[in-house]
Amino acid sequence: MIRITDLEKRYPADDRRVLAGARVVIGAGEIASLVGRSGCGKTTLLNIVGGLDTKYSGNVEIDGRDLRELDDVELAHYRRRRVGVVFQAYHLLDHLSCAENVAISALFGRSGSTSTPRARRRRADEVLELVGLAGVGDLRPHRLSGGERQRVAIARALFNRPALLLLDEPTGNLDATTGGEILELLGALHGAGGLTVLAATHDPTIVAAGSRRLVMTDGLIVDDPRGRP
Ligand SMILES: Nc1ncnc2c1ncn2[C@@H]1O[C@H](COP(=O)(O)OP(=O)(O)O)[C@@H](O)[C@H]1O
Ligand SMILES: [Mg+2]
Repeated sequence: MIRITDLEKRYPADDRRVLAGARVVIGAGEIASLVGRSGCGKTTLLNIVGGLDTKYSGNVEIDGRDLRELDDVELAHYRRRRVGVVFQAYHLLDHLSCAENVAISALFGRSGSTSTPRARRRRADEVLELVGLAGVGDLRPHRLSGGERQRVAIARALFNRPALLLLDEPTGNLDATTGGEILELLGALHGAGGLTVLAATHDPTIVAAGSRRLVMTDGLIVDDPRGRP
């Protein structure tokens, strides 16, 4: 669960409050889309929730723990193990296979189940299958379409079994139907692990696949009741 309370953010040398006391609670297993015009603060919010930006006022609680209360080791653990982040530029390494790209997450989140090369490959194939890319493990990313590469990036974010997945406008690189398909796949994960998803997006297929539509406006988050199914 994500509980955001009175979140404020100003960038240095800029008087404007990009976030102006935003509040929202996103329950475990929810798929929330975050919409709003360009520059309204979506990426700023995702960076804070992802533990990448710690300069803000207000509170961000993840599963009952305030991010502010985590020490450096705990925050690093949170970033590496508890949250998966997919940025618009998805940074796959082209000299590695898709499976190796996905298993790179093991470097940051080594756990018992992925401590051998064989276990890492098995997990990589598992998450690739999950995003609809069974069988591409040995291919290099350049052999795939833009949408498929984005899905490899999502598989990489899922590798360490995060509780929370943050997506920053993934659709820029996705082909028309893929966005909604991915969110439907993520929806199927609900039963399995209660994965919570927060996705900044303009893609109506992603918004439609989500359980909730949040709108950012004037530095605040408004819950759009029409976004509820
Ligand atoms: N590092 C930064 N320094 C100063 N201003 C920034 C920085 N990052 C973003 N901003 C400003 O904050 C506002 C919100 O940006 P952003 O969170 O990227 O919006 P969105 O993702 O919704 O397009 C914009 O006006 C942007 O110019
Ligand atoms: Mg952005």
